Amino acid sequence: MAPKTTPEIGGMGHSVKRREDPRFLRGQGNYVDDVVLPDMLYLDIVRSPYAHAKINSIDTSKALAIPGVLAVITGKDLEKYNLHWMPTLMSDTQMVLPVDKVMYQAQEVAAVLATDRYIAADGVDAVEIDYDPLPVVVDPKKALEPDAPVLRTDKPDKKDNHIWHWEWGNRDETDKLFSEAEVTVKEDIYIPRIHVSSIETCGCVAHFDKVRGKLTVWMTTQAPHAIRTVFALVAGHVGLSEEKIQIISPDIGGGFGGKVPVYPGYVIAVAASVLTGKPVKWIEDRMENLQADSFARDYHITAELAGNKDGKLTALRIKTIADHGYTDAAANPSKFPAGLFHVCTGSYDLKAAHVEVDGVYTNKPPGGIAYRCSFRVTEAVHTIERMADVMAHELGMDAAEFRMKNFIKPEQFPYKSALDWEYDSGNYAAALQLAMDRIGYADLRKEQTEKRARGELMGIGISSFTEIVGAGPSKHFDILGLKMFDSAEIRVHPTGKVLARFGTKSQGQGHETTYAQVVAEELGFPVDSVLVEEGDTDTAPYGLGTYASRSTPVAAAACAIACRKIKDKARKIAAYLLEAHEDDLEWEPGKFFVKGSPDRAKTIQEISLAAYTNHPPGMEAGLEAVNYYDPPNLTYPFGSYICVVDIDKGTGEVKVRRFVAIDDCGNIINPMIVEGQIHGGLTMGLGPALYEEIQYDESGNILQGSFMNYLLPTAVETPNWETGNTVTPSPHHPLGAKGVGESATVGAPAAIVNAVVDAMWHLGVRHIDIPITSAKVWKLLRDAGVKD
Ligand code: CDP
Repeated sequence: MAPKTTPEIGGMGHSVKRREDPRFLRGQGNYVDDVVLPDMLYLDIVRSPYAHAKINSIDTSKALAIPGVLAVITGKDLEKYNLHWMPTLMSDTQMVLPVDKVMYQAQEVAAVLATDRYIAADGVDAVEIDYDPLPVVVDPKKALEPDAPVLRTDKPDKKDNHIWHWEWGNRDETDKLFSEAEVTVKEDIYIPRIHVSSIETCGCVAHFDKVRGKLTVWMTTQAPHAIRTVFALVAGHVGLSEEKIQIISPDIGGGFGGKVPVYPGYVIAVAASVLTGKPVKWIEDRMENLQADSFARDYHITAELAGNKDGKLTALRIKTIADHGYTDAAANPSKFPAGLFHVCTGSYDLKAAHVEVDGVYTNKPPGGIAYRCSFRVTEAVHTIERMADVMAHELGMDAAEFRMKNFIKPEQFPYKSALDWEYDSGNYAAALQLAMDRIGYADLRKEQTEKRARGELMGIGISSFTEIVGAGPSKHFDILGLKMFDSAEIRVHPTGKVLARFGTKSQGQGHETTYAQVVAEELGFPVDSVLVEEGDTDTAPYGLGTYASRSTPVAAAACAIACRKIKDKARKIAAYLLEAHEDDLEWEPGKFFVKGSPDRAKTIQEISLAAYTNHPPGMEAGLEAVNYYDPPNLTYPFGSYICVVDIDKGTGEVKVRRFVAIDDCGNIINPMIVEGQIHGGLTMGLGPALYEEIQYDESGNILQGSFMNYLLPTAVETPNWETGNTVTPSPHHPLGAKGVGESATVGAPAAIVNAVVDAMWHLGVRHIDIPITSAKVWKLLRDAGVKD
């Protein structure tokens, strides 16, 4: 799509440089830890060495004897105010600080308040806790066995570790199609626990101003308004009412879903500030962040696919055990405990599907956060894209040809999936074809055949994924009852400058640039004259925040509609100024002019001034608008990724030789930012595919508790991503745009795994669980009798 605006205006389609970057690159960002207030106190947290243990006693005397340690806060202290438990976003309950027992290793047990961060840490070391270890359950399958110890003894009626059962789709029809199928395939797929490793850890500065009775919290949250409401609901009884709570999300160094939940540290810091009347800072260190914050994935999946010998798929059946740790603290829309996992039919036209998920408690930190994905879409995509490859191989068909045969066709959109989603638009074959052309697919297959004949291991993997982003239409989507709309408030000043405020919150995605581009697109104000603000609940309109790639589908739509309201008023003012009828005016970016007389024009800046100085009699002064956008549907971005790997037979090392990523997020606001999102996302897909996993031993000890063994890809491991795109606009989004922030993280792992399995299928390898470490591949090669 050629841009409608000039580069000077900088509307949609221009690669405007990120306006936030100069301050980030110069170290002049304002992150939570940069907030320093007079008389500020510091909090540090005592954490449990045990995964499950009764607390007999907490001796704080030695800690309190350290000069500068002011208090040690325990669960018993919070219990007096009924603040020792808090609700999770999935209406489960989570301890702020324990009174009786701990439920996972690194759980918060007490908090030390001191005049200095280092003194607080000394205080933590001096707190003495007497524990009695209890039996530990780390395996969710064992947790479901009848003799497993019941973990949530705080729930008097709970007799097992099962949290919920959820199912979707037509079971009978699916079973019938399976019984009639000519070919079926079945795999167990484990998608392990991984952890969001944002550059910035979590933290807050809580400041309760006793004189004004107002609480201000600077905190690392992706959803400041929702947090304010939750704080008011939880702490209303101790006098914190919503109008007196201000949540400020300043610059955020990466969120990826990990900064959606409410962590105990936030609540303890707030309680400490309310009790002392002083500002209290709590900032996690790197290991606390890795060991104790909410985790993602941890889905134990059994998937089956049915089809005909000619390669046409008919049905999908999935059963899953979801390990949620000791509480269900996922940030899913309330109606969907397994998030949007039921988009697992992917890009394929299936007749029926049925999916079942069971949530389970174990002695692990809360899991289930949507790590750079729209509530379990990564799990869904991984499953269907793996299964598609297994089926193609089983049938002896080329993986690309198999996908082309089963794709939902462009003319089938809007398409109702077998699991009830209405896909808005798509052209999957075009994206795959472009990826094949870019990578030289036919030549690569020839090369693979030649290499295989020589005993070399080379694989080609495809992932043709469909995402589902933009939660969401309020008829289906709410979190704790809050409907998942989002908002924009646009104010045009007399001098033709704009203040645009949103209910979302960027964590590095570049909203200050792209929202300004939407204003430029709609109203013709140059990007440089638009100031974008987010993240302060005292000033921004109420919104549900930024996660699940919802900012463009929801808040950018709100922005466009608010701008259109302003444009309607601007047209009236222009007609008055030009002494013309409104219907006789035409718009070109930045001005209205009289049809046929381009010289009789009023610029948007002249109209802005007139809105305050010379507006039509009877018209309200000013030029501003608000929109709360309730999307009619989600948006369904998609893409086709092709990965080429070479495997070292001696070491099992997988080398990603090439990776072509073709994405389609509808109309693009800023191509450079979208490319950046794809690059980052692909690297965040590479990590879990090859390196990242959090495991626990039988006693519940975390095995990857530091970056020494929780391996994140660095520039050394990251291949040269080759990106491109097709454009299939969303028919219902005001700008034709779809979200994109997560597409690559969601789509990449399956392409990599498919490539590795493709290289080894002839050796009898059908599936490898991620991360595909060299050790796993080496063992498979040895088991298959492959010699170096
Ligand atoms: O909600 P979040 O910002 O994480 O995700 P998003 O809506 O997919 O947007 C990520 C970034 O890409 C934002 O700066 C968007 O404005 C930009 N984007 C774009 O320029 N064009 C699109 N069609 C989609 C996103």
